[in-house]
Amino acid sequence: MLLFKKIKDLQNHLSTLTGTIGFVPTMGALHTGHISLIAKSKEENEFTVCSIFVNPLQFNNTSDLQKYPRTLPSDMELLVSAGCDILFAPDASEMYPDTKEPELKFEVGALDSVFEGALRPGHFKGVAIVVHKFFMIVNPSNAYFGLKDYQQCMLIKKLVTDLKLPIVLHFEATLRENDGLAMSSRNTRLSDIARHKAIRIYEALQYAQAHYRTQNITMLEQRCKSWLDEEPLYRTEYFNIVNAETLLPLHSLAEPAVALCAAFVDEVRLIDNLVLN
Ligand code: PAF
Repeated sequence: MLLFKKIKDLQNHLSTLTGTIGFVPTMGALHTGHISLIAKSKEENEFTVCSIFVNPLQFNNTSDLQKYPRTLPSDMELLVSAGCDILFAPDASEMYPDTKEPELKFEVGALDSVFEGALRPGHFKGVAIVVHKFFMIVNPSNAYFGLKDYQQCMLIKKLVTDLKLPIVLHFEATLRENDGLAMSSRNTRLSDIARHKAIRIYEALQYAQAHYRTQNITMLEQRCKSWLDEEPLYRTEYFNIVNAETLLPLHSLAEPAVALCAAFVDEVRLIDNLVLN
């Protein structure tokens, strides 16, 4: 695997390649979910580029940014065993050489003000800026993202559509443990009892999927949220069934629908979602 830290060096190398490039952007601390995206890209492209960059623009507070795990040596080992061809791991000064905030002519719209956007103001704008910049640098044919970050996937879809970028997006299904819990690096922070209870989120999502056509949506959302919160370890932030593209309220059952959930399970914040139709 080749490692590049400078945009120019990466681009010089990419210009010598013939064949499709699959791109997997990450912030490092790689886990099975990321590696499955690399595997998918390898299956579908001649070359796979992974980026590792902890993007300061998508953090609302500096302490979260500082605490974000940086595990480049072990990430590189995982990428080498997965057969990744190229790793691009720039410094912040390489990505953002100017001190003034980079601009992007793209309206994030409602996606920035609901659910994760409402809880983390400016987060999705920061994601859009960095993903756009990476797309311009790497110029991939295909790009791969995990559906676990559903709202991020819809934002990137809007970015590519609005700016008419010639990139095919691939949103890969959430990997789940045997009992249905969505895989996440945060799961290791759950105590044994909290880990056991954490599957309630997926159970509530499945219940919503089974009943959203026949029950009043607001009551169903409320039922699922209350059922989660009946468990003393839970503090549910949201459980909503919304339009799967805009994440705005559903007006008709003919619209594509998704159920989105975020809950603290004993101090560990988990998110999950299920496309309903
Ligand atoms: O999902 C992530 O890891 C990040 O938000 C991304 C897409 C790499 C942008 O920094």
